[in-house]
Amino acid sequence: MKTSGSIGPTLSGKRIVLGVTGSIAAYKAVALLRTLLSEGANVHVVMTQSAMKFVAPLTFEVLSDHPVSTDLFEAHQEMKHLSLSEQADAIVIAPATANCLAKSALGLGDDLLSTMLLTARCPLILAPAMDGGMWTHPTVREHVATLRARGTIVLDTEEGPLASGRIGQGRLAEESAILEAIQTALAPQRDWQGHRILVSAGPTHEPIDPVRFISNRSSGKMGYAIAEAAQARGAQVVLVSGPTALPTPSGVEIIPVATAEEMMKALSTRLAWSTVVIMAAAVADFRPTQRASIKIKKRERIGHTLNLERTSDILAALSAQRTTQLMVGFAAETNDMIAHAKDKLTAKGLDLIVANDVTIEGGGFGSDQNAATLIDRQGSITELPLMPKRTLADAILSHAQGLLHSNKRSIQGANPLAGGR
Ligand code: CTP
Repeated sequence: MKTSGSIGPTLSGKRIVLGVTGSIAAYKAVALLRTLLSEGANVHVVMTQSAMKFVAPLTFEVLSDHPVSTDLFEAHQEMKHLSLSEQADAIVIAPATANCLAKSALGLGDDLLSTMLLTARCPLILAPAMDGGMWTHPTVREHVATLRARGTIVLDTEEGPLASGRIGQGRLAEESAILEAIQTALAPQRDWQGHRILVSAGPTHEPIDPVRFISNRSSGKMGYAIAEAAQARGAQVVLVSGPTALPTPSGVEIIPVATAEEMMKALSTRLAWSTVVIMAAAVADFRPTQRASIKIKKRERIGHTLNLERTSDILAALSAQRTTQLMVGFAAETNDMIAHAKDKLTAKGLDLIVANDVTIEGGGFGSDQNAATLIDRQGSITELPLMPKRTLADAILSHAQGLLHSNKRSIQGANPLAGGR
């Protein structure tokens, strides 16, 4: 089956993992598999134990031309959860039971499919199916909301006759809706096309002498992830980076800097070019008042004090000079995160601030993951749970995109940004 109006297979060369969980709607996954194959996808099916009570794995095996994976602990399936999810372009679970939604929302991994979700870095599409009373249960609603906030695509269920004999909400989404969600998730998003984004990343080094400096724990991973995501979404990106060990994302222009002063200069020079500034760098707030030109000998400095002075607040300075740029800052906090972040949003004249608690386990400096709270100038507060920094980068860009649209609307009206703050 082809979607109406599609020209040739739309999923050609895409590797899709089709997860099937234990719902009566599991039989519909067979038809979905055939559709995905006819759209050119290479599909691996993963079934839960309860799914196998509804449909035999052999059906999927024969149609997909791949063995069906069912068990985390089978010898030949060693590390299957890693290899399958790492190679997948998308993971689709249809039908997804309430139990599957709960495990995914809570990060539980007690079988192959749920463990795979914990290692997945690709779009995840869940098509739930369950009885109407379950679909509207507050716990299920909470799990759906958590998953959606995290960027997982959770389709709505359809209304109609249910397996219980009742009529209600809870039927698996139509196959065309599932296919469309997969096609949309895999189509390259170009929503930042036409934008020029200035991103800063990494720490700064404030020299004491030729061999010593003051710095902080920033790895640059968050800023680099933003630069990479913005480039992938069509923006022209200039990345002003403090010293990091990271490779430059492809298609991104990099300006390497070391000190806060150099970072300020590089960013100021490109401010007029940019339409958006995202300040993810962890700029050192202090630098030594004097920089020795030769190495300070330790015996000369016993008992001496290192005198420090404040560096400029780059973001506040850029914000004061901006014309129509959207300004996004970060707030690295260890306590009273929301209050401190709100103060910075106002004090630095920002449109959006990404607040993160740098002490949380599994997140913060150097980690590949982070959790954050987005606070925008309209007062909205969005909590994003722990997720890969690349996924977080996309969530930040999507939120900023929304603010740009509301800027456009207000520029047509009162024009609060132009020539202003
Ligand atoms: N920032 C900046 N220049 C500085 C310090 C910070 O541009 N000299 C930017 C950061 O890149 C970040 C935002 O300001 O986007 C907030 O940085 P953060 O370190 O959280 O706060 P500070 O402003 O340094 O305040 P404090 O150290 O008191 O928390």
